[in-house]
Amino acid sequence: MALYAMGDFHLAFSTGKTMEVFGREWKDYVNRIEKNCRKCLRPEDTIVITGDHSWGKNLQECEPDLKFIEDLPGRKILLRGNHDMFWDAKKTEKLNQMFEGRLRFLQNNFEVYEDYALVGTKGYCYEGKDSIEHFYKIRDREIERLRNSFELARAAGYRKFLMFLHYPPTSIGEQESPFTQMAEEYGAEKVIYSHCHGQERYDDSFKGVVNGVEYFLVSSDYLKFRPQKLM
Ligand SMILES: [Fe+2]
Ligand SMILES: [Fe+2]
Repeated sequence: MALYAMGDFHLAFSTGKTMEVFGREWKDYVNRIEKNCRKCLRPEDTIVITGDHSWGKNLQECEPDLKFIEDLPGRKILLRGNHDMFWDAKKTEKLNQMFEGRLRFLQNNFEVYEDYALVGTKGYCYEGKDSIEHFYKIRDREIERLRNSFELARAAGYRKFLMFLHYPPTSIGEQESPFTQMAEEYGAEKVIYSHCHGQERYDDSFKGVVNGVEYFLVSSDYLKFRPQKLM
């Protein structure tokens, strides 16, 4: 039994918005994701897919993309990315009911892997695209959702945590953030995030051990479309 993570599949079975236009490193990415997932994932394994699943704007457009994920081996836990328009955060429970036994959606809840609680939310970092007021508003909301996930797990008796985000845990240049502080506060062993694409973005945030927490970037292109084994 093993736990893996990878994010940013950016599937486009119905929209045709292929990532291949973004450069050589994305060539044939969908087949490579499928081939590599089938090579390493066994039915008893778990993979957390850290957001940006599909370019579809609603569930109907995302249907073939979610079916692709569903058909991969093992248990699949999905996190919300900034492009996941099909996923209204307030309706996560509805998605979990709709996809029961097929996919799990991680938001304002938690999942379990052995004696670890898997907690997470989309997160947020500053990318110079919005006003600082808007940035704080979104970040505060995400921090609240993350705390909710931690608290639910703690109330259920869990003391070991792995924390998943879509966005990097810090904005460029930051040495800490409310997300890294929360990871330290609850004693999360690992923080796993994606969202960063292309060589120039791979060093946007932490990788390796910082203040006792191990950080992993798991964007699909960074991983060359091979799932990252976490444990
Ligand atoms: Fe992405
Ligand atoms: Fe993203």
